[in-house]
Amino acid sequence: MSIRRLHTEQPDSFKFTAANKKWAKEQIAKYPKGRQASAVIPLLWRAQEQEGWLSKPAIETVGTMLDMAFIRVLEVASFYFMFQLAPVGKIAHVQVCGTLSCMICGAEDLIGICKEEIADKPHALSADGNFSWEEVECLGACTNAPMVQIGKDFYEDLTEDTFREILAAFARGEVPTPGPQNGRYAAEPLSGLSSLTEFNTGNYETNASVTRALEYGDTVKRIQGNEVPILVAGKKPAKSKPAKKQAK
Ligand code: FES
Repeated sequence: MSIRRLHTEQPDSFKFTAANKKWAKEQIAKYPKGRQASAVIPLLWRAQEQEGWLSKPAIETVGTMLDMAFIRVLEVASFYFMFQLAPVGKIAHVQVCGTLSCMICGAEDLIGICKEEIADKPHALSADGNFSWEEVECLGACTNAPMVQIGKDFYEDLTEDTFREILAAFARGEVPTPGPQNGRYAAEPLSGLSSLTEFNTGNYETNASVTRALEYGDTVKRIQGNEVPILVAGKKPAKSKPAKKQAK
């Protein structure tokens, strides 16, 4: 377990974008008067979504908005590992699952690649400042081990080669399709379907979470707060080719 404390180098200030500030005020308004501190996690999360990590000025800004002692906000930010207390890569922060299933399926090789291609130590920036990485506990995709989370999406069923290619694609400015990287649709047996022999996919080519991820396309984007949700924008969900069938 790493020590969770404020980073040694801090920016001078933090400011929510106008849209994120409006969003934050709406969150605070959900709670009864005097209970606005209940919005601390959503506000910290939005600050991190905007900047990539939580700086001291960001923590203090949230404390001021919620009328909380700064130390109380820091207690929350330093308790939850989802909050990054050090700057992360400009392009992506890679979270490698190092728990049992992933470890026995090759997580150590993925961590080796992170050390080789990003930085020798977790939470350090790559030489160009574009990437950072850390080892995390089980992310709940054990059937598709080994896996990593990059931004908001999971990249699963990785090999050393596919992981290297994913990092290279991000470096080129692309956002590789998340989900299983070995041709699996979701978490079905590697040997093929055995009981239910048809995918109930609703004619989507990719599984629901990957389809959603592709629709939103916000894997490693920073949130400015003025993004229009797809459904509000009236965009049709991406329908694709007929559902796959798999032989017994
Ligand atoms: S052990 Fe890696 S996702 Fe669960």
